Amino acid sequence: MSSTEIICIASHKGGVGKTTSAATLGSLLSSSGKRTLLVDLDAQRNLTSTFLGARKKPQRTLYEAFCEGKDIPIFNVRENLDVVPSSLDLGALDTVIASRIQRESILARLLKPVREMYDYIILDCPSQMGIITVNAFTAASSLVVPISCDAYAAEGLIQLLDMSEIVKSGINPDLMLLGIVITRFHTRRTLDQMVENDLRERYGNLVFSTRIRENATIVQAPIVSLDIVSYAPKSNGAVDYGALCNELTGRLNDVGE
Ligand SMILES: Nc1ncnc2c1ncn2[C@@H]1O[C@H](COP(=O)(O)OP(=O)(O)O)[C@@H](O)[C@H]1O
Ligand SMILES: [Mg+2]
Repeated sequence: MSSTEIICIASHKGGVGKTTSAATLGSLLSSSGKRTLLVDLDAQRNLTSTFLGARKKPQRTLYEAFCEGKDIPIFNVRENLDVVPSSLDLGALDTVIASRIQRESILARLLKPVREMYDYIILDCPSQMGIITVNAFTAASSLVVPISCDAYAAEGLIQLLDMSEIVKSGINPDLMLLGIVITRFHTRRTLDQMVENDLRERYGNLVFSTRIRENATIVQAPIVSLDIVSYAPKSNGAVDYGALCNELTGRLNDVGE
């Protein structure tokens, strides 16, 4: 088995903190000396903008890699941290590769030549449950699902978990649901506590004990092309993600033993 951990961050909803989690965990892991690759699988390119800002476009795109089997573009951001930028045309991928054989495992094949260069590869998924997310489930060794607290928080979660089970029982038996993380938590709001209680009751230890609090500083960081840890290391956002990173790597170590 490979020593590279490929973590897929996915959710059935937008705006729950997938990209923020990918960027922040990537930053924390790379700062702790782990060779880390972040892969932006969302045509909205938010993760790409966070780290590459308006830097010049790559000569080849992730879209071309998916469609034509070309090498994936990799940019170095800083020591131990590389990024595969997304491209706007990724949004059209579903239709373009719809009839291809083994279309679920394209990403796994693209990552194969580079995976041993990294300790962690983090996949930032789009919010739709389309072919890109299925590719991420197929390439990943573990799955992290961020959930923010609204009245419909858990709606759609069952479908997402079902889809991961289908991938696990078929094409990728290595896929493990590492945990559900509560994000954008308002400590003083009754709704958030109700949603948290409900999730913990339903999913028990699968829900990380760390909650990521709603934190205004998190929103500012990408504007200056930084993740929250680099932008405001003492902010609640940076502190919470630090705790999540410890809990997450602890779980991975437990599983590996
Ligand atoms: N804990 C948080 N507190 C406040 N704002 C947050 C938090 N997490 C994410 N955000 C903000 O919410 C928006 C959506 O987050 P993002 O990570 O892009 O979600 P997703 O990738 O799931 O669509 C962004 O503007 C982001 O800065
Ligand atoms: Mg996103």
